[in-house]
Amino acid sequence: MIENIYVPHLMTITKIRDEAENVKTFTLEFKDSQIGKNFDYKPGQFGEVTLFNIGEAPISITSSPANKGYLELSVANVGKVTSALHQKNEGDVIGFRGPYGNGFPFEEVSGKNILFVAGGIGLAPLRSLINQMFAERNKFGKISILYGCRIPNLLCFQNELDNWAKLENSEVLLTVDACPENDWKGNIGVVGSLLPNIDIDLENTVAFVCGPPVMIHFVILDLLKMGFSGDNIITTMERRMECGLGKCGHCNIGEKYVCKDGPVFSYQQLKELGENI
Ligand SMILES: Cc1cc2nc3c(=O)[nH]c(=O)nc-3n(C[C@H](O)[C@H](O)[C@H](O)COP(=O)(O)OP(=O)(O)OC[C@H]3O[C@@H](n4cnc5c(N)ncnc54)[C@H](O)[C@@H]3O)c2cc1C
Ligand code: FES
Repeated sequence: MIENIYVPHLMTITKIRDEAENVKTFTLEFKDSQIGKNFDYKPGQFGEVTLFNIGEAPISITSSPANKGYLELSVANVGKVTSALHQKNEGDVIGFRGPYGNGFPFEEVSGKNILFVAGGIGLAPLRSLINQMFAERNKFGKISILYGCRIPNLLCFQNELDNWAKLENSEVLLTVDACPENDWKGNIGVVGSLLPNIDIDLENTVAFVCGPPVMIHFVILDLLKMGFSGDNIITTMERRMECGLGKCGHCNIGEKYVCKDGPVFSYQQLKELGENI
């Protein structure tokens, strides 16, 4: 029988957690546990989430590949598919096809200091990588995590941020653009405003930047001004997607497809592809 690559795996929602304002984290288990056991992925990969009779949306896997048998997705409610997902309950069944995309470099950056700069829901794909790096801690130098949101209620993964900050040779710096309730003791300003607060060994540091396009734009400008080379800045691109696997031609940057050749690119690659970010 010919396998249909567009048929999703059936997955049961086993847990739903309110992650932040308008963001929920869903734990999904494969209905076929054998598929769950064999399902492997890299941090930075994503899948097409299927809401039957409604549609599909690309969503990054936020759990770490070390956790077998289930996936976690953190999803902001912004439109047709994501609002339908937000209405689901524990026990409901949805579809998931993937993993797709290239994922973040891991072994390639071993031995380096790692700087994460995340904005909003952009911490979701990086969380998978951060947890994998902490699980293999001796492969990396200092790990710095800079994270910003518009307002405090939008900060995701707050318990993990606290835990990461306590780990050896790591630091976590948080910021918000504004604090309407005035109950925020931390930094106020865009996430790039945290960069002068950390010590960076330029030659030996790789930066991972993930968030809304405008944030990526300004953070990359800051990093370039600091002297980072384009090869040492890794980011993710978002495009409207259909197939998710390089067939439909909806998501290209130059001759590359974001779904298949990305969504992770170095700034140098994007420059060579003529992408103006
Ligand atoms: C690789 C990848 C990984 C992602 N990972 C995550 C993740 O982990 N978590 C997460 O929350 N999101 C993630 N996203 C974003 C998510 O896929 C989008 O927000 C998706 O559009 C949501 O689908 P929807 O049907 O709910 O929204 P839609 O109904 O598609 O609407 C989403 C937004 O797009 C606008 N829009 C609708 N149609 C169009 C159009 N034709 N052209 C331009 N704009 C339009 C809408 O006004 C709205 O603001 C990821 C995207 C990519 C590409
Ligand atoms: S979404 Fe179809 S080619 Fe990328």
